[in-house]
Amino acid sequence: MSARGQAFGIDIGGSGVKGAAVDLATGELVHERIKIPTPHPSTPHAVAEAVAKLVAQAGWEGPVGVTLPSVVIDGVARSAANIDKSWIGTDARALFSVALGGRKVTVLNDADAAGLAEDHYGAAKDLTGQVILLTFGTGIGSAVMYHGVLMPNTELGHLEVDGCEAEHRAAASIKDRDGLTYPEWAAEVSKVLITLENLFWPNVFVVGGGISRDHEQWIPLLTNRTPVVAAHLKNTAGIVGAAMAVEAGIAP
Ligand code: BGC
Repeated sequence: MSARGQAFGIDIGGSGVKGAAVDLATGELVHERIKIPTPHPSTPHAVAEAVAKLVAQAGWEGPVGVTLPSVVIDGVARSAANIDKSWIGTDARALFSVALGGRKVTVLNDADAAGLAEDHYGAAKDLTGQVILLTFGTGIGSAVMYHGVLMPNTELGHLEVDGCEAEHRAAASIKDRDGLTYPEWAAEVSKVLITLENLFWPNVFVVGGGISRDHEQWIPLLTNRTPVVAAHLKNTAGIVGAAMAVEAGIAP
């Protein structure tokens, strides 16, 4: 299957390889998300097999967009967070394309994909100017967009804030690891947002990741000046953004 106005997106994370066909007119999934556990070790070869299995299971024959928790330049993974370090230097686009029978594939950073999706269909849909999306999970992912155009691979989670990397201070995993309350964790997130807004001056921050489901418990506690809104697409943002990227021919 491969239908007009649709593309297939796959989001690769530390625990699952998730994918679905996406209706590009609405940003909605065409069918229920398919999830395959991320192989361990999550080597390029093992993950490519999981990707091929997922696409075959969906019966999809068209182009495929894929996210990685990595810096991706020209289809090549240049870093690896929460996946096997052997990804570094791997031509992920060529690898997935071969695994999928030579079809068109785009590979991009996971947060960049989520940013594209939120900017086009989600929380930042009607907003203009500069939008910074941050995903709070094991680490902190970032996407910087200006009037819908993505500046890829920003890696703001690694910015040093008060002598400590932003994601080591305010990722959702730090809240869990250190048993922080929402007020305690929100104070750390605020420090990160204040540093970012003083450098980038965005019009809005969109916050995503699993913890954004509980946004009422922490967004009101933030003390930075830029408006902060919760992501809308939740766990489909990576899939939707990957599908958008392959359709648009975005190849960071
Ligand atoms: C990585 C980013 C990734 C983010 C979320 C960070 O540790 O450096 O590339 O987008 O985690 O997965």
